[in-house]
Amino acid sequence: MNEFTILENQNDLDEESKALLDKAKEALPNAYAPYSNFHVAAAILLDDNSIVTGTNQENAAYPSGMCAERVALYTVSSLHPGKTIKKLVVLARLGGQTNLAPATSCGACRQVMLEFEQRQGKPFEVIMQSQDRHWVKARSAEALLPFCFSNESLQVRK
Ligand code: THU
Repeated sequence: MNEFTILENQNDLDEESKALLDKAKEALPNAYAPYSNFHVAAAILLDDNSIVTGTNQENAAYPSGMCAERVALYTVSSLHPGKTIKKLVVLARLGGQTNLAPATSCGACRQVMLEFEQRQGKPFEVIMQSQDRHWVKARSAEALLPFCFSNESLQVRK
């Protein structure tokens, strides 16, 4: 099975993913990004078909801010413990613009996605727009993080 599916057009995505993208777009106005002007939203589909969204939240003390993906993921574990993530989409828009901007999740978010995936013991899809404006669908969080560091890495070798 391919790790990645690359689609030229948003309309080429499956209906479930398109519906999730719409939910992320709806959440986008809740982004608080006065410093970067880069508004990001993530939407997560759970196994009971409920949807959790998150947006980036910045702070005058820059490192205190949080990416949209992690806001959404931590909301899942806080408010929906035990539920399985099926799919995560992320999208972005520059303030004042109408078109979406490419947004590929940062390394820290990929790391957090990986641990959620390992905890639930089941891969989930991650969908994002690449810099060349294609839509990338990763089969799993692990696919986005080759040679990853995880809890297994913490085991002391016998
Ligand atoms: N950001 C996200 O929300 N997700 C990402 O994967 C990349 C970056 C946010 C963090 C910051 O508020 C702004 O985008 C600019 O980096």
